[in-house]
Amino acid sequence: MLIQLVSSALAWACHTSLIFFVLPVSFLLVWRLWRFTVRPWLRPHEPKEIPYWIPCHTVDFLRSSDKLIEYGLKYTGNNHEVFGVQTVDRKLYIVTDPQDVSAVFRDTASLGFDGYLNELLISFGFTKEAIKKIWHKPSDDDEKMISETINPERMNFIHLAEDIFKRQLLSGEKMDRIRDDIMSTLHQSIQWRQLDYCTRHSNGNGKQISLYSLCRFTMVEAATRSLFGSHLHNLDPDIVENMLSFGDHAWQVIFRLPAFLNLDVTAPRKKLMDALRVFVQLPESERSEQAWAIKNVLDASDSFDIDFESRASVLLLMYWAANANEHNIAFWVIAHILYDENLLELVKRETEGAWPNGSLDINYLSNNCPHLEAAFNEALRCYGGAVISRKVLRKTIIGNKELQPGHAIIIPSRQLHMNESAWGYDAREFDHTRFLKNRSLDRHPAFRPFGGGVTYCPGRVLAKQQVYGMVAILFRRFDMKLAMRGNGVKPQLPRLDDTTPRLGIADPAKGMDVFVDMWEK
Ligand code: HEM
Ligand SMILES: *[C@@H]1O[C@H](CO)[C@@H](O)[C@H](O)[C@H]1NC(C)=O
Ligand SMILES: *[C@@H]1O[C@H](CO)[C@@H](O)[C@H](O)[C@H]1NC(C)=O
Ligand SMILES: *[C@@H]1O[C@H](CO)[C@@H](O)[C@H](O)[C@H]1NC(C)=O
Repeated sequence: MLIQLVSSALAWACHTSLIFFVLPVSFLLVWRLWRFTVRPWLRPHEPKEIPYWIPCHTVDFLRSSDKLIEYGLKYTGNNHEVFGVQTVDRKLYIVTDPQDVSAVFRDTASLGFDGYLNELLISFGFTKEAIKKIWHKPSDDDEKMISETINPERMNFIHLAEDIFKRQLLSGEKMDRIRDDIMSTLHQSIQWRQLDYCTRHSNGNGKQISLYSLCRFTMVEAATRSLFGSHLHNLDPDIVENMLSFGDHAWQVIFRLPAFLNLDVTAPRKKLMDALRVFVQLPESERSEQAWAIKNVLDASDSFDIDFESRASVLLLMYWAANANEHNIAFWVIAHILYDENLLELVKRETEGAWPNGSLDINYLSNNCPHLEAAFNEALRCYGGAVISRKVLRKTIIGNKELQPGHAIIIPSRQLHMNESAWGYDAREFDHTRFLKNRSLDRHPAFRPFGGGVTYCPGRVLAKQQVYGMVAILFRRFDMKLAMRGNGVKPQLPRLDDTTPRLGIADPAKGMDVFVDMWEK
């Protein structure tokens, strides 16, 4: 009886293990063999796909996109052909060869940015009704939408909004205005008696400050006031902290992590949206300090009848674009200058020339500081990791691989920036002199810190001037020196954070910082 029971139990166990274990495993093995060995061999023109057991790579990608991409490069024999990565709902084609990247930027007919932008806007909180309205191409009947002052070229709302931002940042009166606002905020916030928020300790007449905190606050404060005057500060006194904290976690919005995960981005996003929602409903007379682009995007929203929630989200997207990279790039540029005494002296001397009569000449600063420029470019190269996205709209060949419509193209600029055939055997080292030795290196096709093609960053000139301005003001007002460790030893330069999915310039690894000894001149 007992034996019978045991043997039937065993038989049952074998049977179930056959069903629940052996069968699925053999199925998985066959599937994997087919998917990653047989099929690629049968279809050599299709991009190879990185193999996986669990059908999606989202988790890997979120954990470290750098590592996943490096694995993919190795898997394809490092020949930089286009390869594929499967995520939950689509395939990502990873493009890393500089020539293929240029081809992607050129082919605007088959590889669009709009599809990607649409998803981005939904992630940022655009309503369904507004999404329909923003792609509507105005016709003769839409009088309000095509008025001479707002939209003579009859663009749809979203292209109009992009165009407004581009016009704001094109050199000329509008750009001068926003740049002057940024400079005057920098002048006001970089002052000895205001450095408390980033002071680690003071001794005698010196202070030791956190470079990371200094850059974060200073840059976001300047961009906020240049776009919104004092209005957002009045609506939310913590607006700068909230933007910083939103920016730290914005990848959760971009990669559409589900809200039930209790995301870090939720609270700062809500606070920013609360302020912006009030702002967009203020009568124009109470928005008198807003930048030209903000006024015009809101006027356009009015004529396209976009709801307030969506107006606030489009402003959040623009506000974030202006802030996503500035504080990080300033941090790395200043850190590297302080770590290299030689470079520090050279930059001090050349920026001193930008103060001819006691006020800062920004044009001189932009054009006559080759060492600062070289350090800026090298920092963009070493820490720039923008992930540039396009959507495949129709079947397209890139580097003899056939890409299928509906999927996404990803250009990880970090892989270009570390390409040894472009940058030499020391591609992974920070060496600003490479940009001094070859002044046209900043136009190399493997240098893409600001993206390219239709979405080539319109803020690139402003970005540079904002960083140079901060550097010039710091060195003019203070003596600055890298703080040594207790035993007098030079601390290590922070590593970059390679655990958070990166959307632009990398942060320093969590908990790492650079401390600076400062004295007022
Ligand atoms: C070092 C600082 C900056 C870096 C590295 C940077 C990088 C980029 C990159 C890579 C893109 C292209 C994204 C894509 O194709 O998917 C982009 C787009 C954009 N950037 Fe920047 N950016 C910086 C500063 C700024 C600033 C200061 C502003 C505005 C004040 C700005 C405004 C924009 C806008 C509006 C777009 C979208 C353009 C479009 O949709 O056509 N950026 N940026
Ligand atoms: C300083 O010189 C610049 C031109 O280099 C000029 O525009 C500015 O008005 C001068 N400022 C003062 C205070 O003299
Ligand atoms: C670098 O880029 C070239 C194309 O310019 C490509 O052929 C090569 O495989 C890349 N090499 C590395 C090591 O990244
Ligand atoms: C300088 O860089 C450019 C690419 O921007 C390249 O074509 C050229 O060969 C380089 N010159 C030297 C001397 O290395």
